[in-house]
Amino acid sequence: MEELLEKLETYRREIRETELTNPDAAESYRIRFLGTKGIVKNLFHEMKTVPAEKKKEFGQILNEFKLFAESKYEEAKSINHQPSTINQIDWSLPGDPIPLGTRHPISLVRNRIVEIFGRLGFSVAEGPEIEDDWHNFTGLNMPADHPARDMQDTFYIHQNPDWLLRTHTSSVQARVMEKQKPPIRIICPGRVYRNETVSARAHCFFHQTEGLYIDENVSFADLKQTLYFFVQEMFGKSVKPRFRPSYFPFTEPSAEMDINCLICGGAGCNVCKHTGWVEILGSGMVHPKMLQNFHIDPNKYTGFAFGMGVERICQLKYRINDLRLYSQNDLRFLRQFVAAD
Ligand code: PHE
Repeated sequence: MEELLEKLETYRREIRETELTNPDAAESYRIRFLGTKGIVKNLFHEMKTVPAEKKKEFGQILNEFKLFAESKYEEAKSINHQPSTINQIDWSLPGDPIPLGTRHPISLVRNRIVEIFGRLGFSVAEGPEIEDDWHNFTGLNMPADHPARDMQDTFYIHQNPDWLLRTHTSSVQARVMEKQKPPIRIICPGRVYRNETVSARAHCFFHQTEGLYIDENVSFADLKQTLYFFVQEMFGKSVKPRFRPSYFPFTEPSAEMDINCLICGGAGCNVCKHTGWVEILGSGMVHPKMLQNFHIDPNKYTGFAFGMGVERICQLKYRINDLRLYSQNDLRFLRQFVAAD
């Protein structure tokens, strides 16, 4: 009896110290302790060597031992049943961040322009980047020999010399006037092309947003007020806009709009060419000849148009001093932009 109790104690220690961390270890344990020829069974066989008056007491001890050996196995089974990595995961570790893209600064500014004019009732119109001569030039009062074409040299398509890459979004005005009758109130964001040598200040492609409003009694005051509203929404109430007389073949009278240089605050820098002012758009009242070209009665309707450079607005908003950065796809540059304001 003493001997048996000692054996039991040794087995208990062994069970306590055994680690059943994988299914193989659990299976060998089961065979050794709980199998048909296992230790538990053998111990029960040894009951017959125990004196009769001790049988009851020893029986209880043995039953407890059996439960103890079984519970160890059950516990191991439930742990090993889970996927094997589950015990190795530290649930308190922070997760891997999911990399999120950012919007291109040109898209941010374009979206903001569309949103601001959207509040004034302008809707978005789009046109093709490969244009014909009529919609890009001739229809806009710029016949083949017009000197204004000099400033807008572009790329022509081999197969058809009448096709070119549009030089401005004013081509979309032409396409809309062709199809739609007044009132017309549209904004046309898009990419444009010019035959320029690429440098910090010029590029062979860039972006513009055109605006066109045609209705009865549209005046120059409406044009000014609309553009004042726009710059204040875009750059804040303290922005200082000014209009300068200018010339475009498709508007009369015409004006360019400048704002105070936000880069140097007026002190003078190379963005404002040391004048304190930066040009952001061209504008004017739609030329009566244009209206006629597109079968809109100039005696009944008047309108204004404007076209702004998106890169320039972006430059002032984010202080970007090299046009090439916009198209180099350098992630260090692109990741810096989160919102337009
Ligand atoms: N299309 C002109 C340009 O690219 C800008 C402009 C648009 C001017 C509409 C007047 C009216 O320079």
